[in-house]
Amino acid sequence: MMLLQAFIFLLAGFAAKISALMTNETSDRPLVHFTPNKGWMNDPNGLWYDAKEGKWHLYFQYNPNDTVWGLPLFWGHATSNDLTHWQDEPVAIAPKRNDSGAYSGSMVIDHNNTSGFFNDTVDPRQRCVAIWTYNTPESEEQYISYSLDGGYTFTEYQKNPVLAANSTQFRDPKVFWYEPSQKWIMTAAKSQDYKIEIYSSDDLKSWKLESAFANEGFLGYQYECPGLIEVPTEQDPSKSHWVMFISINPGAPAGGSFNQYFVGSFNGTHFEAFDNQSRVVDFGKDYYALQTFFNTDPTYGSALGIAWASNWEYSAFVPTNPWRSSMSLVRKFSLNTEYQANPETELINLKAEPILNISNAGPWLHFASNSTLTKANSFSVDLSNSTGTLEFELVYAVNTTQSVSKSVFQTYLFGLKV
Ligand SMILES: *[C@@H]1O[C@H](CO)[C@@H](O)[C@H](O)[C@H]1NC(C)=O
Ligand SMILES: *[C@@H]1O[C@H](CO)[C@@H](O)[C@H](O)[C@H]1NC(C)=O
Ligand SMILES: *[C@@H]1O[C@H](CO)[C@@H](O)[C@H](O)[C@H]1NC(C)=O
Ligand SMILES: *[C@@H]1O[C@H](CO)[C@@H](O)[C@H](O)[C@H]1NC(C)=O
Ligand SMILES: *[C@@H]1O[C@H](CO)[C@@H](O)[C@H](O)[C@H]1NC(C)=O
Ligand SMILES: *[C@@H]1O[C@H](CO)[C@@H](O)[C@H](O)[C@H]1NC(C)=O
Ligand SMILES: *[C@@H]1O[C@H](CO)[C@@H](O)[C@H](O)[C@H]1NC(C)=O
Ligand SMILES: *[C@@H]1O[C@H](CO)[C@@H](O)[C@H](O)[C@H]1NC(C)=O
Ligand SMILES: *[C@@H]1O[C@H](CO)[C@@H](O)[C@H](O)[C@H]1NC(C)=O
Ligand SMILES: *[C@@H]1O[C@H](CO)[C@@H](O)[C@H](O)[C@H]1NC(C)=O
Ligand SMILES: *[C@@H]1O[C@H](CO)[C@@H](O)[C@H](O)[C@H]1NC(C)=O
Ligand SMILES: *[C@@H]1O[C@H](CO)[C@@H](O)[C@H](O)[C@H]1NC(C)=O
Repeated sequence: MMLLQAFIFLLAGFAAKISALMTNETSDRPLVHFTPNKGWMNDPNGLWYDAKEGKWHLYFQYNPNDTVWGLPLFWGHATSNDLTHWQDEPVAIAPKRNDSGAYSGSMVIDHNNTSGFFNDTVDPRQRCVAIWTYNTPESEEQYISYSLDGGYTFTEYQKNPVLAANSTQFRDPKVFWYEPSQKWIMTAAKSQDYKIEIYSSDDLKSWKLESAFANEGFLGYQYECPGLIEVPTEQDPSKSHWVMFISINPGAPAGGSFNQYFVGSFNGTHFEAFDNQSRVVDFGKDYYALQTFFNTDPTYGSALGIAWASNWEYSAFVPTNPWRSSMSLVRKFSLNTEYQANPETELINLKAEPILNISNAGPWLHFASNSTLTKANSFSVDLSNSTGTLEFELVYAVNTTQSVSKSVFQTYLFGLKV
């Protein structure tokens, strides 16, 4: 598609934000969604923020040998300074056998050396320990690996597994530090029992089963990729609640895979949902295996996450080459009590705001911030060098002190009303 110029004009006075995102025509590669250089990608893994280097780390389920899922499966790796541009890094974790996989898991920063893996040569802010599932045809067991170089290469703990249940359906450990009890807390899925188990540990090596959150919400064929995180409320950021994320596949209401969540309380051992309502993180079809960052740069927020922007229903057929699949943008989560279906109940819902560093994004992003547009003053975006797929985001804000005519929301693109 070749567009010489797009005119967007609006019929009455109000503010609009207009941006156009394009894919790169030469390669069909999205420009702001992370894609692997080559090969197949699924779940995001091990998200953490290096507070020493000011760098964000994203790992992911990775098959470098093909553009469809297959074994052996690795942890691919990418880094970013601004959550908008990602830099490819070498594979971080490899499975021991060709019929096995380094399946999904998470990263913690063992600041206080509870694991004993670190000496003073590793900065406390970079003491990475990955907790992941080693999958073989015989079993799924939880392994840990540590990094002495800030998250680029990993060494397997010699006494792995740290947690096993004689099961082929026990995976996706997500670990966080629970300050009040000074313990590590893990959520992991007993996938086909529809059970999220909660474990605690002092040292990341020995784990104690504390409780389970089971048979809640949509079940589908299996539970995957759980996550438990404290999320601030938007109305009062000093108040927060706990959110349990659960991915299911297949069996999503819209087909294939999706992410649901529950809002509740966590006391160090048990998660209790406020209600039994399954809530949907994203109503589109391409938002799976959501994981939140272990830690963040607080200026961006405290609850940030990335999901796989695909769906197992068709992920293997998306026509891209030599790679397949992309990640969602990073989203900032908060809880919101503002939008109520009726005055009798107070429902708490998750709000997700995409993070995109506009000023840093590049010449292919056209952005008109908060312009007041009139018929006489139409806004035009010069797309003379642009080819590929164009995506327009229009945010309308009406000036309520002015009278607003019915035709306010008519928008014309090339003279075509959209
Ligand atoms: C588009 O893709 C080509 C080929 O991979 C690459 O050389 C070019 O830098 C890309 N352009 C942008 C704006 O990313
Ligand atoms: C898959 O890719 C990895 C990393 O490039 C390589 O080490 C391995 O030999 C490949 N395995 C197969 C079966 O091709
Ligand atoms: C895995 O497959 C690759 C490519 O076929 C081969 O070079 C390598 O020796 C195999 N590794 C193991 C551990 O069997
Ligand atoms: C490290 O130790 C301090 C002091 O005991 C404690 O407050 C903090 O929660 C610990 N942090 C981590 C991540 O282990
Ligand atoms: C971490 O713990 C190990 C094992 O107890 C110990 O050998 C090492 O000195 C500790 N490192 C630091 C920085 O305290
Ligand atoms: C720290 O650990 C590294 C890796 O195990 C080792 O090479 C180094 O000698 C250790 N340094 C000290 C001061 O113990
Ligand atoms: C592990 O599970 C298999 C299959 O359910 C069972 O036959 C076997 O006895 C179990 N092994 C142990 C050690 O529990
Ligand atoms: C957490 O809540 C559970 C269920 O109500 C209760 O049994 C447990 O004792 C509580 N634990 C703590 C540490 O308060
Ligand atoms: C959730 O459902 C279960 C089973 O129907 C019920 O026992 C429980 O009270 C419900 N919990 C809440 C918070 O409504
Ligand atoms: C747009 O401008 C108005 C008036 O200056 C301001 O109140 C509003 O917050 C701005 N909106 C955005 C999204 O920047
Ligand atoms: C289009 O490309 C030409 C040549 O590279 C450049 O001079 C011009 O500034 C570009 N126009 C836009 C709107 O990016
Ligand atoms: C809204 O309209 C009023 C009345 O025309 C005007 O005084 C005010 O500046 C407008 N506000 C914005 C944000 O454009």
